[in-house]
Amino acid sequence: MTQEHDLFEIMRTTRSMRRLKADPVPAALIRQVLEAGTMAANGGNMQNWRFLVIRDPAIKAAVAAYYRRGWHEGVGPRYRAGGPAPGTTPERFGRMLDAAEYLADHFHEAPVWIVPCVAGAKPTRTTGASIYPAVQNMLLAARALGLGATLTTLYLAHEREAEAAMGLPEGVHSYAIIPIGYPMGKFGPVKRTALSDVVYDDRWGKAWTD
Ligand SMILES: Cc1cc2nc3c(=O)[nH]c(=O)nc-3n(C[C@H](O)[C@H](O)[C@H](O)COP(=O)(O)O)c2cc1C
Repeated sequence: MTQEHDLFEIMRTTRSMRRLKADPVPAALIRQVLEAGTMAANGGNMQNWRFLVIRDPAIKAAVAAYYRRGWHEGVGPRYRAGGPAPGTTPERFGRMLDAAEYLADHFHEAPVWIVPCVAGAKPTRTTGASIYPAVQNMLLAARALGLGATLTTLYLAHEREAEAAMGLPEGVHSYAIIPIGYPMGKFGPVKRTALSDVVYDDRWGKAWTD
């Protein structure tokens, strides 16, 4: 298998892994994940990103309380009341929601969190564009190393409180919390709709054909 094929296989199986073991993750692996993050594209190569690695149980517990509230008071009931995501069945979607609820109740148990931040800029599409490539690189790197991870933003329902609990200084904003650990389950293929549903050809709404 060529390296190129390896990358596509990694992308095909980088699912959100929400059930994580509490076993510690070697710092050398976290370093590899962080290095992958800092290889990403970013505006002008200014590298205004900062990555807060959180392992302190007290900080995780304080922040996780806001995440849990965000799930149980808003997102969870809303998703459960609605239809399944495109390209998936109600059963499969229900299993995803169960996993998401598990994460909400066990968020603090993930041995490591990486919190990607940007300093000194109002959160906009432009600032987001300089941090989410690093986030995706880290998700792929974690997968490649056999670590489970999930991009989460649910804590932003209580953004101020959660960022204060993480000790972020004034003017620094977090863009996600990525809980990382060894997964309880197996990596499997992601589930997405067909390209023809989401790719247009010259004109909006005209399905792309190759
Ligand atoms: C912007 C963004 C925010 C997300 N926030 C959460 C979150 O707070 N909690 C969670 O469990 N999953 C979160 N996810 C993960 C998505 O639910 C997940 O990527 C999607 O259901 C597809 O599943 P898969 O990643 O397993 O293929 C988030 C994903 C993105 C891109």
